[in-house]
Amino acid sequence: MIVEEEAQKRILDSIHLPGHVAWPDIDIQSSLKWWHKAVLYQVYLRSFADANDDGVGDIAGLISRLPYIKELGVDAVWISPWYASPMLDGGYDVRDYVDTDPLFGSLEDVQDLIDASHQLGLRVVLDFVANHCSSQHPWFQSALSSPEGSREREWFYFKDGQGEGGDEPPNDWKSIFGGPAWTRTLNHDDTPGQWFFHLFDSSQPDLNWKNEEVLVQFDEILRYWFNRGVDGCRLDAVSAIGKDDDYRDMGFAPDHLYRPDIWGPVPFYDAEGVHDVLRRWRRVAREYPTEKFLVGEVVVRDVDRLARYLRRDELQSTLSFDLSKIVWNADAFRQMINTLHGACFEGHSWMTWTLSSHDEKRTVSRYSQDGPAEGVLGDVTPTGHGRARAAYLLALALPGSACIYQGEELGLWEVMDIHEDRLQDPIYFRTGKQELGRDGCRVPLPWEKEGPTLGFSARHETWLPQPQSWADVSVATQLNDASSTLHFFRSVLAWRSTIFNNDEWAITWEPSPTGVLVLRRGPDFRCVVNFSGEPFCVGDDEEVLASSSPLTHERVVDVNNGAWLRARRFAAHQRL
Ligand code: NOJ
Repeated sequence: MIVEEEAQKRILDSIHLPGHVAWPDIDIQSSLKWWHKAVLYQVYLRSFADANDDGVGDIAGLISRLPYIKELGVDAVWISPWYASPMLDGGYDVRDYVDTDPLFGSLEDVQDLIDASHQLGLRVVLDFVANHCSSQHPWFQSALSSPEGSREREWFYFKDGQGEGGDEPPNDWKSIFGGPAWTRTLNHDDTPGQWFFHLFDSSQPDLNWKNEEVLVQFDEILRYWFNRGVDGCRLDAVSAIGKDDDYRDMGFAPDHLYRPDIWGPVPFYDAEGVHDVLRRWRRVAREYPTEKFLVGEVVVRDVDRLARYLRRDELQSTLSFDLSKIVWNADAFRQMINTLHGACFEGHSWMTWTLSSHDEKRTVSRYSQDGPAEGVLGDVTPTGHGRARAAYLLALALPGSACIYQGEELGLWEVMDIHEDRLQDPIYFRTGKQELGRDGCRVPLPWEKEGPTLGFSARHETWLPQPQSWADVSVATQLNDASSTLHFFRSVLAWRSTIFNNDEWAITWEPSPTGVLVLRRGPDFRCVVNFSGEPFCVGDDEEVLASSSPLTHERVVDVNNGAWLRARRFAAHQRL
């Protein structure tokens, strides 16, 4: 097996770590699992909190802020990759799967993080990046230095080029990040060699998931982190590991950007083999006393394809990215929610509702405009803030888990004016600077009202610049304002943890005026979101548990707002 000895030793050592033993098994009480209604908080490590003052967030910074996450009222943290990495795609280019990048800290720091989270009652979800590694990973380096057709090259997709001298790529396939999906290698004597496939950046060669050695190696990597106490994995770009042995041209134009959610079937994405791999990982997840959680980043072209990932022996959940791509419109939301919920299998798989991530434009910015959910974004408006809160009321009222990306609880907006010298996202460069990329949603968090980095770091410059206007929305500012978005999230999450019964599966939409969504869960709870142009009046017999902004005359949900309501008889009964 081609794997460096050091890494292999770390994997073996992990068997003796006590991690998973320490966690109480809540499953004894019920057949329901912790993820069936958990709220995950997504930490983008580089931008969360910086303890060593180098301008980049790190593990120690995250540990120091765990109480903040706990007080928010969430159940788990999903943390973006901490692996050793050249950081050409923010850590999604992994050089060593069983070590931590010094930029973030040490393996001991990661263990402290896992333990400290557990002590606070927070589960830890690892970002598991299996479709590709870094081109600097010893596996790929070893493949490069091995001859064509060698066992080492079988770990990846190496192909001869077309045309005279093999100068043209093997076919016309395109990368999701822009440009061709093939990059040519150099032979030992500096002559041009074979080409390798990369769905993302050229620094991220795709691994060959039909290779038994790759399969076995990643089983061990999973166990390594589970043995350290990690409670689950978010499976990065998981649909991409399914590939067919079919290298025909797809008819892509030279400037084409491959979009898996839009394009029809292609041989290099979402092929049948992915499901064998998922079943295999699920078996590993079940080896533990408390089953580990597998939630997929599944981006596929339709709901039938999605449902295949949620079968009872595959993933327990997927993130609902489609929800973050739709416009502010009642029918669009209702249809998308029904569709995604319909892909789940009652009692076996659930959706993890999410409106935002480190890959999406910030919610407040998306809803500040009425046009398409993607593309050029204008100024942030009070309407955008109201809609974002209302959308979270809806997402957090749905059966299943939910995920909140860091900073959403502060109502942060997309930073659109980062100077081009500071932009880092490979998408910006691979699209010839046509696409701004994802840096605008990855700007370091504002913790304090003052100081050059608003409390993110003692250093005078953060890895991406923060807007000074974020002083007004910093954690410290919002903690002192009972009407802030932060207090809104805290209160909504506190209600969520008490009012929903785990086993409520059905989504019921009540009849309502056009443009108003009324979601009922159980006999007493309703969530109203007003997408229409008219105010919507709620009944006298309901108390308002939470609302995106105070209800006019305590009964009127204004346009672009939402509320959680509970029948008064329930409240009276509870008081007795
Ligand atoms: C999805 C991740 O969320 C994204 O940030 C990353 O660039 C790609 N996968 C490639 O790993």
